[in-house]
Amino acid sequence: MRKNPNLEVTENFFEIVEKRRAIRKYKPYDIPDEDLKKILEAARLAPSADNSQPWRFIIVKDQKTKELLAKPSTQTFIADANAIVVVLGDPSVSCCSRATWTTRDPMIATEHLVLAAMALGYGTCWIANYESRPQEWVHEVKKTLQIPEHMHIVVLVAIGVPDEKPSPRPRKSLQEICFDGVYGSPLRFH
Ligand SMILES: Cc1cc2nc3c(=O)[nH]c(=O)nc-3n(C[C@H](O)[C@H](O)[C@H](O)COP(=O)(O)O)c2cc1C
Repeated sequence: MRKNPNLEVTENFFEIVEKRRAIRKYKPYDIPDEDLKKILEAARLAPSADNSQPWRFIIVKDQKTKELLAKPSTQTFIADANAIVVVLGDPSVSCCSRATWTTRDPMIATEHLVLAAMALGYGTCWIANYESRPQEWVHEVKKTLQIPEHMHIVVLVAIGVPDEKPSPRPRKSLQEICFDGVYGSPLRFH
């Protein structure tokens, strides 16, 4: 196993949030189990509707399977990630059997995972563009990863040691997205 000695650990929550970027280039290092466990533990502790915890995670490290997950996307970096976390939602345990929470709850857990990875020095990238991929791909992935037919593939997360430092992407200002009491009323801080 190749362990990267130079991971940039960040402990301050606000710094983690501010410094996190979508990473699309990775160094060829493995993620030690102790780090992977901490990252998945952060996902496990996420809140969910009625505490139903409908998320499941498959950690894919096998190169051939990573290539299958990257296919037929043009985003080849997916297969270069040290691991791909396949985030699943189980409608049979989701709150009130409502399909919406089957995907929303796992996405909350996914952001926990992403921030925990960042805290430990790893880069991640949410991958949702598989939604436009053909049904045959979904069948092939479900068959290869032995995913029960009723479960949803919610998102993929590429994770690894970053090999790039992207600049921050623009965000809307607080004034554009936050209001005081009623929609449209400017929020001021004193
Ligand atoms: C739900 C979701 C889906 C995303 N899907 C993809 C994707 O398929 N491919 C990709 O390269 N980035 C994807 N991203 C990453 C976004 O493009 C990125 O988070 C956004 O541009 C802001 O950049 P930043 O994360 O570096 O701040 C996704 C992000 C989210 C939250």
